[in-house]
Amino acid sequence: MPLPKAELHLHIEGTLEPELAFELATRNGVELPYADTDELRKAYQFEDLQSFLNLYYELMAVLRTEQDFTDLANAYLARAAAQGVRHAEIFFDPQAHMARGVGMGTVVEGLWRALGDSEAAHGVSTQLIMCFLRDESAESALETLEAAKPYLDRIVGIGLDSAEVGHPPVKFREVYDAAAALGLRRVAHAGEEGPPEYITEALDVLGVERIDHGLRCLEDEALVARLVRDRIPLTLCPLSNVRLRAVDVLSEHPLPVMMDAGLLCTVNSDDPAYFGGYAGDNFDAVRKTLGLGEDRLRELARNSFVASFLEHDEERRAR
Ligand code: ADE
Ligand code: ZN
Repeated sequence: MPLPKAELHLHIEGTLEPELAFELATRNGVELPYADTDELRKAYQFEDLQSFLNLYYELMAVLRTEQDFTDLANAYLARAAAQGVRHAEIFFDPQAHMARGVGMGTVVEGLWRALGDSEAAHGVSTQLIMCFLRDESAESALETLEAAKPYLDRIVGIGLDSAEVGHPPVKFREVYDAAAALGLRRVAHAGEEGPPEYITEALDVLGVERIDHGLRCLEDEALVARLVRDRIPLTLCPLSNVRLRAVDVLSEHPLPVMMDAGLLCTVNSDDPAYFGGYAGDNFDAVRKTLGLGEDRLRELARNSFVASFLEHDEERRAR
């Protein structure tokens, strides 16, 4: 039996497996520049975050209808459930779809058809987090928040993702303030490729409650002390870090050092279709390669619920 866990860092578009990508391409009459799933899989060799994002955005062309988003989410929820995920806080990237003429309503309603049934169908409770693309403008983020207003009963919070370096959190101060005023929870990717200053800025300027990745906090001792003291959760993604070369090899991943330092670490899959594994696969990989014992794995699983946006009684039930 896999350990019950919550997944807090998961891009739904990053769960698009090659088989489903081809199925949706055929259904929607979209031509993919790959002969078959084998050839597509061969393209999964990444140099860095940007080289991954190029493929990630390219493949999204197959997602066009509500049904596509429902199928995508159901496929993820089935896989996650099989690996012990009991609760998932799921990112989506509306700007990447709206730029292709796919409306906010299509995305949210489509995802919701799977998420709304997920407790009954998969035994997984869910929440949706809408991410802004940080390499798009601050105005575009504000327009996206405006477009989401009819759907806010289905969206628990906002996040910030895409190409990090050169796009500091401060660029999004206004939209984070507006989201806070609407009662939305706030998270942001920071310190994946970007410097530790972006983590500090996400906390101080955007008021985030969790940091997605946060790996590079280790370069700033005072920041580590602050994250420990304030119990700020980090949603780490070990297999992602190896595939995007944030760390050279998994055996050198700093997760054990971070846990020893007292950081509130969680383990997540990020974009599992691209990075070689879902939540349970990430747990297995750190157990085998980093030699984490049963107590450490239980701590990670417990942290995932503590760091979630579940209320305390919901949290207990999910475990
Ligand atoms: N979008 C999807 N996956 C991402 C990641 N790992 N970092 C930033 N943006 C992303
Ligand atoms: Zn991510």
